[in-house]
Amino acid sequence: MTSEKSNRVWRLAARPTGNEFDTALRLEEEATPVPQVGELLVKNRILSMDSGTRMYMTDRKDSYQPGTPLGAPILGTVIGEVAQSRHPAYAEGDLVRCYGNWADWSIATPETLYTAKLDGKEPNLAEYVGILGANGWTAYLGVVEYGAARAGETFLVSAAAGCTGSMAGQIAKIAGCRAVGLAGTDDKCTFLKNDLDFDDAINYRKGALVDSIAASCPDGINLYFDNVGGDVLDAALSNMADFGRVAVCGLLANYSAEGPVPGPYKFDLVLMKRLTVQGFFSPDFYHREPEINPVLRQWRDDGRLKLPIEETVGLENTIAAYTKLFIGANIGKVVVRV
Ligand SMILES: NC(=O)c1ccc[n+]([C@@H]2O[C@H](COP(=O)([O-])OP(=O)(O)OC[C@H]3O[C@@H](n4cnc5c(N)ncnc54)[C@H](OP(=O)(O)O)[C@@H]3O)[C@@H](O)[C@H]2O)c1
Repeated sequence: MTSEKSNRVWRLAARPTGNEFDTALRLEEEATPVPQVGELLVKNRILSMDSGTRMYMTDRKDSYQPGTPLGAPILGTVIGEVAQSRHPAYAEGDLVRCYGNWADWSIATPETLYTAKLDGKEPNLAEYVGILGANGWTAYLGVVEYGAARAGETFLVSAAAGCTGSMAGQIAKIAGCRAVGLAGTDDKCTFLKNDLDFDDAINYRKGALVDSIAASCPDGINLYFDNVGGDVLDAALSNMADFGRVAVCGLLANYSAEGPVPGPYKFDLVLMKRLTVQGFFSPDFYHREPEINPVLRQWRDDGRLKLPIEETVGLENTIAAYTKLFIGANIGKVVVRV
């Protein structure tokens, strides 16, 4: 089980420029790690591909998580089986979700946040990092608590065909909002309206976005769920209703930036329109999984919450899977099956 040279690990060889992950990440083969007292050796089955990981590839000092040191393995959420347990609460064969590495094996520490024994009810393990994982909880709390969505309101979400955004839009619908999505292709917009029941969808790459949003949201946006920041945030700010709320989930357009990012240029509208802007970060609410997952699972089982899963097979293909998030090549959740 712990033979030499049997662990392939993606390590950060250099800080990536833009989406050039090929030159920045290196797949190395090394000895399988050995768990210390209190740790688990986990055989990775599913790697969750998360846009936020891009930020940890930089060396910025003021992020909510420190950057990955050069040479270190890439950290991410994994699902796998306990192959060796040195923690009394876990046994060999347990199915777990934990922070681990983009690798064949991970070392998990049950005492850290997020390590959880899974119930094994889901035939597709990727569900535990989709609807039933941090993206699902972020979409749920971002809409119902941080964004305080109310029936009858107009809700706008960016990266709407992606993992977090598609769930946020569907949850806003469940809350009784009129849901409008922004996505990067006409096909994605059709998918949002036909398959996920969004009331409208706008291709943000076409025409003047400020005008397209105004046409779709004539009474203004009451709640904007922002996944991208940048120009799209400015276009949304221009269309906010008075006393609207901006739930800042992510700033994808900034993650690859080389230096300080200008804007939002329309920040003065926070004052003019008396807006509330609220950021939120999933580790702050991991502990609420037992309360949130039954709700999400029920909606999923009722057919009201859907999430396509795009699976790439093979650890060696991780970069191709990860790049999808930054070139808009995905719909729903992206995972790698190891
Ligand atoms: N706050 C938290 O705790 C938390 C937790 C999870 C995720 N998030 C955030 O949620 C956002 C979505 O993450 P995800 O992992 O679920 O990814 P995702 O939405 O599944 O994939 C990313 C999508 O964003 C769009 N996109 C990429 N670059 C863009 C740009 N520069 N401008 C506009 N759209 C762009 C692309 O679709 P198009 O074709 O539409 O461009 C792409 O498919 C990220 O900002 C992430 O950091 C936050």
